[in-house]
Amino acid sequence: MERQIQIAIDGPAAAGKSTTAKQVAERLSYIYIDTGAMYRAIAYKALKCGINLEDGEALGRLLSETDITLKQGKDRQIVLLDGVNVTDAIRKNDVTNNVSAVARHSEVRRDMTLRQQQLASKGGIVMDGRDIGTSVLPNAELKIFLLAGAEERANRRHAENLKKGFSSDLENLKKEIEARDRMDMERLESPLKKADDAIEIDTTFMTIEQVVEAIMTNVQERIR
Ligand code: CDP
Ligand code: CDP
Repeated sequence: MERQIQIAIDGPAAAGKSTTAKQVAERLSYIYIDTGAMYRAIAYKALKCGINLEDGEALGRLLSETDITLKQGKDRQIVLLDGVNVTDAIRKNDVTNNVSAVARHSEVRRDMTLRQQQLASKGGIVMDGRDIGTSVLPNAELKIFLLAGAEERANRRHAENLKKGFSSDLENLKKEIEARDRMDMERLESPLKKADDAIEIDTTFMTIEQVVEAIMTNVQERIR
């Protein structure tokens, strides 16, 4: 049997992490974990409960009494928050615009990191996020850092929104993505950053298939 490895995929918003990570996991019959969905889920609950997003301790307490379960649906990952399906709710604008403020607190990051490490302990895994290669899985056999220009990333998210029937304003989207990237890169605790041993792939002019192929080539070298 082939060796099972850990694959960490990091990068800024809308670089194509989840789309490509999911396809790589499918090809390998690995578990796929979208860690961004976990941060979105706690941000959603905090907003609903009216928690002050500046209060890291309160957010940490809220998280300690929260169950977040990721389940593989037919063609997408289902997110259960305390048993309730919030898969669509966590993609809404209010969550997107507040998630980085929640994710910057050390109380939140410590708890999430432990959960993610536990999920990754079960064999072949593809995990995507911002700090997987640097902090959650520092020993991952393969680390990928996906990039794309901000303009292209905003265009991609815009097209995705329109396809889903969501309202979408390209200029606002670009500003939102840049603001979120800045917060994610500038936070003190496990900021968005390429791990020294990560392979950087600029996907600006690549199709999803080309990105998946590029990652699979690196996977093959490591499981051989
Ligand atoms: O899909 P999109 O790029 O819009 O974002 P996401 O992957 O769903 O992540 C949402 C937010 O969660 C990010 O902007 C980060 O603030 C936070 N996040 C994080 O801090 N660490 C991770 N490993 C994953 C996400
Ligand atoms: O997970 P992340 O936020 O990094 O990005 P994503 O949700 O996987 O991708 C954002 C959008 O870009 C999706 O609609 C993808 O289908 C699209 N995409 C693309 O057009 N070309 C790529 N090379 C990668 C993703």
